[in-house]
Amino acid sequence: MIEALQAFRERGDVVYGPPGHKQGRGADPRVVAVVGEGVFASDVLTLNGLDDRRESQGVTKQAEDLMADAVDADTAFFSTCGSSLSVKTAIMSVAGPGEKLLISRNAHKSVMAGVIVSGIVPVWVHPHFDEDLALAHPPEPEDVRQALAANPDARGMLLITPTDWGTCADIAGVAAVCHEYGVPLIVDEAWGAHLPFHPDLPAWGMDAGADLVVTSVHKMGAAVEQSSVFHLKGDRVDPSVLKQREDLLGTTSSSSLVYLTLDGWRRQMVEQGEQLLGAALAQAARLRAAIDGIDGLSLMGREVVRPGGAFNLDPLVSTMDVRPLGISGYQAGDWLRAGRQVDIASADACRISVRLTHGDDDGTVDRLISALQALVEAAPAMERQAPVDLPTPRSLELETVMRPRDAFFARVEQVPIDQAVGRVAAEMVSPYPPGVPVVTPGEQVNQQVVDYLTSGVKAGMLVPDAADPELTTLRVVAR
Ligand SMILES: Cc1ncc(COP(=O)(O)O)c(C=O)c1O
Repeated sequence: MIEALQAFRERGDVVYGPPGHKQGRGADPRVVAVVGEGVFASDVLTLNGLDDRRESQGVTKQAEDLMADAVDADTAFFSTCGSSLSVKTAIMSVAGPGEKLLISRNAHKSVMAGVIVSGIVPVWVHPHFDEDLALAHPPEPEDVRQALAANPDARGMLLITPTDWGTCADIAGVAAVCHEYGVPLIVDEAWGAHLPFHPDLPAWGMDAGADLVVTSVHKMGAAVEQSSVFHLKGDRVDPSVLKQREDLLGTTSSSSLVYLTLDGWRRQMVEQGEQLLGAALAQAARLRAAIDGIDGLSLMGREVVRPGGAFNLDPLVSTMDVRPLGISGYQAGDWLRAGRQVDIASADACRISVRLTHGDDDGTVDRLISALQALVEAAPAMERQAPVDLPTPRSLELETVMRPRDAFFARVEQVPIDQAVGRVAAEMVSPYPPGVPVVTPGEQVNQQVVDYLTSGVKAGMLVPDAADPELTTLRVVAR
């Protein structure tokens, strides 16, 4: 695709259609001064731009085929709007309104949104809650087997791996169970676009037997935000169905900037991925050793890789519990940004996480290490906050008493949160990050969840999707 853009420029095409900024000529110079000329100059339509009116050069198709080759998929195609759109498309390619789909309950809110929009009936497969870490590990093959045995009419399964904290599921084990029951496995590998390109990284979905894998290349790869790829293997998911579902939901103005950077990243990984990711892994090992040596930071390591825990761990993600410092992850994240201009990947009540990619080097890692050391020194002077009422195992396993779509579109009431216990939620409540809904429409709210969320918000938890983000009230189905 990069060559197609170069050819477009060399030809000196003048465009009489969108984008209206006309490759930057109409852009406000004050904007260009900040974002750079290249952004606008590369924002060209594919139709009658990078390619001709009938796409006869196959510019996008060629890039997608090269992607499939690179990652051992039968078919790949690009999408914009991130995995948020791709996971919706993926689940709607496997199940329709009123049909059952097994979904790991640690799914991102975009999956829940897909369930609401489509009217799919979710069969939740619950992750394993680790009480010591206050963190959920992905479900295991046996959990999926039980769910499929109890729901033989389910149309497939959606698994999330790696999680926001870098823990990974047993994709091969879950795929084997799904295939025994004759249904496809979809893997939301939004955090795993880098996995195919280094042998020391956890298993990549297409190599582990998954039927359909979705990635966000902007997360762990080097394409711009919203870059997402569908990868298919085998014949359990029909590529033409997937393509049509994508067409139903997606934009008709896909960003060439997204596709160009996606294609360029694929080439970079094919040619130099092992070397670049090898260097990133070495930096990650150095970072992890340094964190291990900092008193007060408890690094999540391979001890979580055990039956009932994680199946594997992405070493490029360092997740550290900051509770020994007497502060919350929110406080740690806020301090690092304000005090050291270091922006971490995620924070919750207990921990923070940071991610390295092939874009990191000695300088960025040294800076992080010294910021973490400074955080530990600064922690004793930080405010001691009321503790968050952390969930206990199973307390997050709310009973689904109504189909999510019916609850979301029902007549609703906004009730004081303490009166929401026992009521049926009509909205998602997703602490961000990781954006996994604690409550999803159709679930019956319990006291522990209310205590966790309200104490969490007091401690700095962000809940952007609730109608009342302060959570003094909750949206429930009207009686
Ligand atoms: C597991 C998971 N799936 C899907 C998404 C949505 O991806 P995107 O931000 O690319 O839309 C996210 C976002 O964080 C995620 O964590």
